[in-house]
Amino acid sequence: MIEVKNVYKSFGKELVLTDISVAFDQGKTNLIIGRSGSGKTVLLKAIVGLHGIDTGAIYFDGRDFIKMTEIQKQDLRKEMGMLFQGSALFDSLTVQENIIFPLEMYTNMSYEEKLERVNSCLKMVELEKVNHLYPAELSGGMKKRVGIARAIVQFPQYLFCDEPNSGLDPMTALVIDNLISKITHDMNITTIINTHDMNSVMEIGEKVVFIHEGFKCWEGTRNGVLSSDDKHLNDFVFASNLAKKIKNLK
Ligand SMILES: Nc1ncnc2c1ncn2[C@@H]1O[C@H](COP(=O)(O)OP(=O)(O)OP(=O)(O)O)[C@@H](O)[C@H]1O
Ligand SMILES: [Mg+2]
Repeated sequence: MIEVKNVYKSFGKELVLTDISVAFDQGKTNLIIGRSGSGKTVLLKAIVGLHGIDTGAIYFDGRDFIKMTEIQKQDLRKEMGMLFQGSALFDSLTVQENIIFPLEMYTNMSYEEKLERVNSCLKMVELEKVNHLYPAELSGGMKKRVGIARAIVQFPQYLFCDEPNSGLDPMTALVIDNLISKITHDMNITTIINTHDMNSVMEIGEKVVFIHEGFKCWEGTRNGVLSSDDKHLNDFVFASNLAKKIKNLK
């Protein structure tokens, strides 16, 4: 479980996160939703330590991240897998070299062990026989899968995905969502996903946290999203004319 307590974050005079408190559950897909610019990426980066925070606390299974030394933080980062906006694969490395990269950086596993791990992760994301292809030779959906394989190659306790299905068609987006959800359950990971895709919310939103202009306005499950009284959440959910029409038909 990851707990965020009374977190404030500003850039210069601009307050971007205001008093955010929320717990993200282990073994669940926790979704952070909100409009563009609401603060989702800043919150995710604050949780993994890529942004410092002004005040507040962040606990990883009770471990106080903010109070840790740099070395302790680096150790904890080995328990984190990250898939950030775009897949951020290294274009000059093959699929296998991309996925093996964190193992070479952070472990002293033997080459055989590393290769075995790479192949088992490729299997988990349902990709095989692509080890020696370069990112340019893959489709967008395949690149996301490789990004996921790299994010889980160290068998993380915590998985962070920022807009994992951006740029994908709705069907492929659904496949990627379900893949992340399956891995989360199979490996009992605390997973946090940023999205503004309502399809993702309804498909895998076991816990949903709605951020509006840097404030946490609402949290609940995917079922609660549609029946909430929160005005900002309603505006977000029913932003499209199609969604409004469906709501009016009910
Ligand atoms: N490094 C930075 N320096 C200054 N301001 C920043 C920085 N990063 C983000 N911001 C500001 O913080 C606010 C929240 O941005 P953030 O990227 O978290 O939005 P988001 O919810 O992830 O949006 P999107 O859905 O478009 O990805 C925005 O007003 C943005 O301009
Ligand atoms: Mg973002």
